[in-house]
Amino acid sequence: MINQNEILSVAKEAALLAGAHARRIRERKNLKVEYKGRVDLVTEADLAADKIIREKILSAFPDHYILSEESSSKTDTHNLYAGPVWVVDPIDGTTNYAHGHTHVGVSIAFMQDGLTQVGVVHAPFLDETFTAIRGQGAKLNGQPIDASRCDALEKALVSTGFPYERENLGGVLARIERALIHCRDVRRAGAASIDISWLACGRLDAFYENLSPWDVAAGLLIAKEAGALRARFSDNKNPDLPEEIDGTDLVVTAPGVHEAFVQCLMLA
Ligand code: IPD
Ligand code: CA
Ligand code: CA
Repeated sequence: MINQNEILSVAKEAALLAGAHARRIRERKNLKVEYKGRVDLVTEADLAADKIIREKILSAFPDHYILSEESSSKTDTHNLYAGPVWVVDPIDGTTNYAHGHTHVGVSIAFMQDGLTQVGVVHAPFLDETFTAIRGQGAKLNGQPIDASRCDALEKALVSTGFPYERENLGGVLARIERALIHCRDVRRAGAASIDISWLACGRLDAFYENLSPWDVAAGLLIAKEAGALRARFSDNKNPDLPEEIDGTDLVVTAPGVHEAFVQCLMLA
């Protein structure tokens, strides 16, 4: 039997250690940055945070599997539907991190047999830690949080983001015009895990983007436990991923605007 509280404490400790290290590296002012693709960056902090998190998890649970943006191979065929799996984005918002912005997250989720049990999103530059245990609600720095009570699209503050692979921009871009016309305004803050956590605590009312599992795994449990609802803005999904961590064409909203926002994003 898994002990959710023990898992949460390891996840939190790993996120705080990785976040503190990332802060220290940035304070040095000579950050090493490389390119993964044309615009997609990876810094020494992404790799260092990944190592810290892996070591922390594996020292507590040596036989658990870790799916991490920085250390999992794209050809890895591990069965994510069975057993204990950690889903990790060591630094979410690397572009923000490299440019000295504060909207940066360390995202760690724990899944058992395809269901997310624990989620932690830590914002090291904002001193905010969002946590959730399945069935037990969501918290920000230990205090319970709820999604907003927004009940009309014209009052909804929306957030989104854009994939680095510019050829995949279409789906998100096509919907921006609709969100701008029908909602209060749109933000692009640059770290999906933090966006989804901000939705969970009522700072945003709706979010949509096409994302990878490590961007969404922890945030989606936090949002769900805070009363937010999720859907997809298309029929696309990734058959290799458990539903709860599949960020394909994702929509997450406060409950009062869910139907209206999903409708708003549906292209004819
Ligand atoms: C990115 C951020 C960003 C989102 C991108 C992600 P990374 O993650 O979450 O907000 O728009 O799609 O890839 O690369 O900084 O971990
Ligand atoms: Ca990410
Ligand atoms: Ca990342």
